[in-house]
Amino acid sequence: MPINKFIPTNLSIKEINGTISWSSPSNIALVKYWGKKENQIPENQSISFTLDACKTITKLTYSKREKNKENFSFQVFLDRVHKPDFEPKITTFFTRIEQYLPFLKEFYFKIETENTFPHSSGIASSASGMSALALCLMSIEKELNPEITEEDFIKKASFLARLGSGSACRSLEGDLVVWGKHDDIEGSSDLFGVKYPYKVHENFKNYQDTILLVDKGEKQVSSTVGHGLMHGHPFAQERFKQADENITKIKAILESGDLDAFIALVESEALTLHAMMMTSMPYFILMKPNTLEIINKIWSFRKETGLHISFTLDAGANVHILYPENETKAIIEFIKTELVAYCQNGHYICDRIGFGAKQL
Ligand code: DP6
Repeated sequence: MPINKFIPTNLSIKEINGTISWSSPSNIALVKYWGKKENQIPENQSISFTLDACKTITKLTYSKREKNKENFSFQVFLDRVHKPDFEPKITTFFTRIEQYLPFLKEFYFKIETENTFPHSSGIASSASGMSALALCLMSIEKELNPEITEEDFIKKASFLARLGSGSACRSLEGDLVVWGKHDDIEGSSDLFGVKYPYKVHENFKNYQDTILLVDKGEKQVSSTVGHGLMHGHPFAQERFKQADENITKIKAILESGDLDAFIALVESEALTLHAMMMTSMPYFILMKPNTLEIINKIWSFRKETGLHISFTLDAGANVHILYPENETKAIIEFIKTELVAYCQNGHYICDRIGFGAKQL
């Protein structure tokens, strides 16, 4: 069923052409989205830190077509190289969003995209990539309907990004974004991400995320397949309930600045996500031996030093190391001396909380 408020009513499809560029960051979930219903509606709420350095830059060139407007017309380039194999994914995205952007078939699009992180890093580019593209398309809608407010622009861009990839709806703003309707988060919705609206303690300002690249290979199970395996999963309902409770808990933690409680919640979320994968049918494991080595090293180092280092994982083997800014020096030293050996080719990326997408 279409969501009527996102269907534009007063667009005049003019003879326009031009180029628009947006950069949009990746994000890392603290409470994880895992499981969805039809139309990209999440089974549970999630909350993420928006990242800063890991982002996608997308340039969209558009020109009005004269004829043959039955199909979408576009080409995709990654790092200037034409990528026909990316096109089915974009066709699926365009098909899902066409009713909300009725001008899509009226234009030819050249989509040129690049990531600040290496393509084969195991870092998913779908959140940053889909949000950057959704923003570019919204800029065209704005050109056709300049009346649209800033607030509605971002809301609809997040709504469209979600239809490309669920977690992409959390990449437009910063520094924390909630997706999924929750009684404790005013304005929250299953349809789009909202900027976290409450007080956040100084401890979490400029929080750091160093991403250890443990395995840069293609994942053997995609997120989309993984979400699907939550249907009929024996622990699914308990997990969705836990995520709901964890949103309530993290709200109190973010306000009080309780770093120990933050660590316990975030690490438990990461391991629960992977436990869901290990207990689905078919079951699978995305962690690698080095993922576990790193986790154990982090736990010993935390015990020895009392520093507030913690980890989280997304749907892969890489480890995101989270820590407060004022502990950076000792923790980076630890990463360099003890953890780099577990990274593929010694690669890691230093990132931190960011503030969302930007038009270039
Ligand atoms: C484990 O957003 O990549 O990173 O909606 O199928 O595109 P699709 O899935 P995706 O799933 C991300 C899952 C996660 C957790 C999270 O980011 O919340």
